[in-house]
Amino acid sequence: MENVTIMDHPLIQHKISMLRDIRTGTNEFRSLVEEISVLMGYEALRDLPTEEVDVTTPIENCKTPMISGKKLAVIPVLRAGLGMVGGLLTLVPSAKVGHIGLYRDPQTHEPQEYYCKLPESIGERIAVVVDPMLATGGSAVAAVDFIKQRGGRNIKFMCIIAAPEGLKRLHEAHPDVQIYIGHLDKCLNENAYIMPGLGDAGDRIFGTK
Ligand code: PRP
Ligand code: URA
Repeated sequence: MENVTIMDHPLIQHKISMLRDIRTGTNEFRSLVEEISVLMGYEALRDLPTEEVDVTTPIENCKTPMISGKKLAVIPVLRAGLGMVGGLLTLVPSAKVGHIGLYRDPQTHEPQEYYCKLPESIGERIAVVVDPMLATGGSAVAAVDFIKQRGGRNIKFMCIIAAPEGLKRLHEAHPDVQIYIGHLDKCLNENAYIMPGLGDAGDRIFGTK
């Protein structure tokens, strides 16, 4: 599928298996989410534009590549996406951070918006939307809709676990968005939770229930 990358790196797969484990506690869960975000971010940002700049080494002057232009906006979908922000900021400390607040209605499973604040000139940035879970795809589609309504054009979506249903919905609604997935799982259950998944990502990151 064009614009869809499913990670196959053994380090990412190993850490996702640890995340899934019901015995993994909040502290370790948070660290793993951050580590996976670094590893996935490394892959997802491999097409960042660079420009040649002049640098003087102890030996001589040279032209050498650095990230160019108005760079990055990292946009977590609240709450669980917050867990992935630190990993991306480790890679690109100068990135700006926006927030989109959505929760799934427990009955309809459709996303309800409660907050949206994006960095200025979002249209000139690469927006990386982060959310560990892509289940029905409702939240991801809504998040990308918000960013596009505010002028965003160059958008990536990064999730740790996806269900085929959510991938299809996001890709069909926004075929231009580059999607990065840590692992593509089997399907959704009757409560729209991913199987086998890892349970409720927000609750596991923040220790709520
Ligand atoms: C989770 C998850 C995604 C959404 C995915 O958030 O972090 O945002 O569900 O489901 P979808 O693809 O079916 O929309 P949740 O609504 O549980 O909110 P929380 O992060 O505040 O717990
Ligand atoms: N949100 C989660 O946190 N987990 C799922 O499996 C589905 C949606």
